Amino acid sequence: MKGILLAGGAGTRLYPITIPISKQIIPVYDKPMIYYPLSTLIASGINEILVITTPKDLPLFKSLLLDGKQWGCSISYATQNQPKGIAEAFLIAQDFIGKDNVSLILGDNIFYFPSLSSIVIPSIKSIGASIFAYHVSDPSRYGVVEFNEQNKIMSIEEKPEKPKSNYAIPGFYFFDNNVVNYVKQLKPSPRGELEITDLIKKYHEQNLLNVIQMNKGTAWLDTGTVSSLMEASQFVQVLENRQGLKVGCVEEQAYCKKYINDSQLKKLAKPYNNGYGQYLISLLND
Ligand code: G1P
Repeated sequence: MKGILLAGGAGTRLYPITIPISKQIIPVYDKPMIYYPLSTLIASGINEILVITTPKDLPLFKSLLLDGKQWGCSISYATQNQPKGIAEAFLIAQDFIGKDNVSLILGDNIFYFPSLSSIVIPSIKSIGASIFAYHVSDPSRYGVVEFNEQNKIMSIEEKPEKPKSNYAIPGFYFFDNNVVNYVKQLKPSPRGELEITDLIKKYHEQNLLNVIQMNKGTAWLDTGTVSSLMEASQFVQVLENRQGLKVGCVEEQAYCKKYINDSQLKKLAKPYNNGYGQYLISLLND
């Protein structure tokens, strides 16, 4: 399984913060936002990753993430020149995907998902598509999935004014290799984008959509507004200070997956003259 990390967009809802800098680079507590989705991909066992961003922001991401070898991964880059929708990422990534299945995660989606690698990922089917559903208080800001009592999918809508359920679809998706063919059949929505929800609907029409409900011990955090961004930072701070464990630590996930060994982890920690570096060193003794 390959991974696409989509970090495009102008971030206008966070202006003036995001006038000179990409939204996905700004900090969420103690690390750049993009570390969170990147560590989620790595925790999922994905180490071949394509970062798609805007031509303007590309040098920033390259200077932060390099070629991924320092984490035992391969990170390559592509650009989305116009904001033409999440689903367009699969067309941009066509050569990268090749004959493999692919996961896509949005660069501003933050997950706290302890059961991800042990329980959820092994249950993902290799044929069809898998998406998550997360109960939220304000579903109209997201893609929304509706179920009946037998857990059968009744509807999938993008940012509905009157949501039929409280289950939002987080920006973390798994698709089989037919994804590029399905995207080629999509028409742009009224806002001129190839919508991810239209792609998901294609799989649903073929009876090939699997929806995984994220349970109560998990969190999917929003970073779309200054308030939700602050809340996400506070969530991470409270959890990290209380547990002494990090959320979204790329180096830790790479070490857990054995993509890097003890001496590589030590080398990564060396330039960090702070608690982050001490945390990395503490992982060696665990
Ligand atoms: C996008 C998707 C939406 C999804 C959301 C998750 O919305 O279109 O279906 O629920 O990401 O973050 P956007 O935030 O791009 O408007």
